[in-house]
Amino acid sequence: MMGYIDSLIAARRAGHVSDHIHLGLFADPSLTLDQAQEAMAAHHLAALDLHDGQSVVDVGCGFGGSLRRIDAQIAAHLTGVNIDPRQIALAREGLWRNPVAWKTCDAAAFSDTRIGWADRILSLEAMFHFPDPEAFFAACAKALRPGGRLVVSTILFADGLDRSAIAVANGFAPWPMPEMILEDPIGMAMAAGFKVQDIQDLAPLCLPGFDWMCPSPPPSLTDHPVIELCRLFQSGAASYPMLVFQAGGNTQK
Ligand SMILES: C[S@@+](CC[C@H](N)C(=O)[O-])C[C@H]1O[C@@H](n2cnc3c(N)ncnc32)[C@H](O)[C@@H]1O
Repeated sequence: MMGYIDSLIAARRAGHVSDHIHLGLFADPSLTLDQAQEAMAAHHLAALDLHDGQSVVDVGCGFGGSLRRIDAQIAAHLTGVNIDPRQIALAREGLWRNPVAWKTCDAAAFSDTRIGWADRILSLEAMFHFPDPEAFFAACAKALRPGGRLVVSTILFADGLDRSAIAVANGFAPWPMPEMILEDPIGMAMAAGFKVQDIQDLAPLCLPGFDWMCPSPPPSLTDHPVIELCRLFQSGAASYPMLVFQAGGNTQK
């Protein structure tokens, strides 16, 4: 499971990749992948609306790249959540200015029974892995204080499960709900009490990143998940929604 992370952990230890595990955002196509990954994190953090004194959670925090930016930006209480203890071990290395709580658990379990303790929750390009996104949204709704904010991005397949999408979902397993469409996370979030503030499809701005990651897709299908993901992004058959939600203000939710 998550075989792509195994090689990335080795590459991170060797200093070959950044502390971000995502496609990057190329507002300017001349950016390097590392610069675009910083830009992607910055774009999510701008949507989070961060302020000193907040309690900020990153669910599916990878190697901690986004949390590092937050740590440099504000005085805050940080929480990094990941199912994978190896990534948590990497993320926590080095100096942190702010206190950071590290939780090795599923995305739906980060808050336990606590209610109304977090101000901001981020989940950047991770939800496609979650076995129970509905429970994830419910946990976020419980964890957030009234007025709190949740920023979630993920990858969705637009045209159902063709062979490319199946290659991607298998190659980046676990991908338990490959048939998910945009209405699903929005419905789950609203059922948990969130209001939708913004929806952006970042897929077109991810495209230049594939030049850094794989050869361009040949006419016939491959079994290479990154090449097939590139094919889906190029044809518009995959999307990369970034969803911004406002907590409803009912702490009983
Ligand atoms: C594509 S990476 C994104 C990492 C990070 N958000 C970033 O931007 O660098 C997906 C992350 O989701 C984590 N993940 C996968 N399944 C999870 C689960 N059930 N609960 C929490 N995190 C999970 C993976 O370990 C990985 O760190």
